[in-house]
Amino acid sequence: MKSRELQANVSELLADVAGGQAVIVERYNQPIAALVPIKDFHLLQAGKQRRGMKRIALSNISGGETKTTLTLNLAAWYARQGLRVGVIDLDPQASLTKFLGLHLDPDSPAWTAEATVLGVLMGRGGMPEPIRIFDFDLWPANELLGDATARLMQGTGFTRLREATQDLSYDVLLLDTMPGMGPLLIASLAAADDILVPVNSVKGLQNLEPLAQMITAARSWSPDLSVCMFIPSGLQANLNYHKLVVQALGTYSDLAPVGPRVREANRLIGLQSLQHRPAVLIEPRNGFSEDIGELAVQVASLVGLPLGHAVAP
Ligand SMILES: Nc1ncnc2c1ncn2[C@@H]1O[C@H](COP(=O)(O)OP(=O)(O)O)[C@@H](O)[C@H]1O
Ligand SMILES: [Mg+2]
Repeated sequence: MKSRELQANVSELLADVAGGQAVIVERYNQPIAALVPIKDFHLLQAGKQRRGMKRIALSNISGGETKTTLTLNLAAWYARQGLRVGVIDLDPQASLTKFLGLHLDPDSPAWTAEATVLGVLMGRGGMPEPIRIFDFDLWPANELLGDATARLMQGTGFTRLREATQDLSYDVLLLDTMPGMGPLLIASLAAADDILVPVNSVKGLQNLEPLAQMITAARSWSPDLSVCMFIPSGLQANLNYHKLVVQALGTYSDLAPVGPRVREANRLIGLQSLQHRPAVLIEPRNGFSEDIGELAVQVASLVGLPLGHAVAP
């Protein structure tokens, strides 16, 4: 339809559109606009958001490398910037869920198998309703999630979490993975497109080789999966051992960039455990919180997260 015909016929046109028809408006024989039923518009929007969602796993085969601390604080930081953030606790030890104090309430859904992604991993359904906390959505974990490990061994469930999360409407979905090797880790990595590898110790460095094996396995379902950044984390700039870790990490820089150092912050991290609040929300101006901010910005630019252009929820 020509643009000059639009005004004369607007009520008829709207009736057609409400009936499910789409109308293309032309000016000088060029299509310039479209009137589409609102449900199609929502579908288009959802499609745009889906393409944009970044699924990022934080992983290192050893425990204590600060995976959970970084997941929690990056989530809170991105949420404060207005991004839509989802977090999945994929560690049956449930550190992230416990850091948030959800285990303190015996009636919390965080204790139930249904609140975790266990059902998804077992092929029993889609993503359950998340828990809304600190402006992000959380799928909690508990030890029942460990059941998934044994059963995944028998089946072909590695792709289920990837499939179940692909239609979610977040800007970023952070996956806090378990330590150790196994099917649950492969399924977790297979749901991601990028991996952040926090390193806090020499052990964390030595474990990069088995992590590479897990990544190779997960690529069957996530072909573009790769390490997006190594993160020297929980480290003091002036401690010799910590200097050694940072230096050794430098030798991996041909595999992926080495990100900014996230400093050790025992007092603030202690407060985080006491208050069950992400450290970046307790003291946004603390050096640790500034390190998280710098890391968040670098990660955003590497994976293409639209900081400052967050889509309104
Ligand atoms: N920057 C930091 N400064 C001080 N302690 C930290 C820091 N980051 C993490 N920790 C502490 O180190 C321990 C291991 O961190 P965590 O995030 O649980 O590691 P992972 O998830 O890799 O096992 C936790 O007790 C955590 O509170
Ligand atoms: Mg952890």
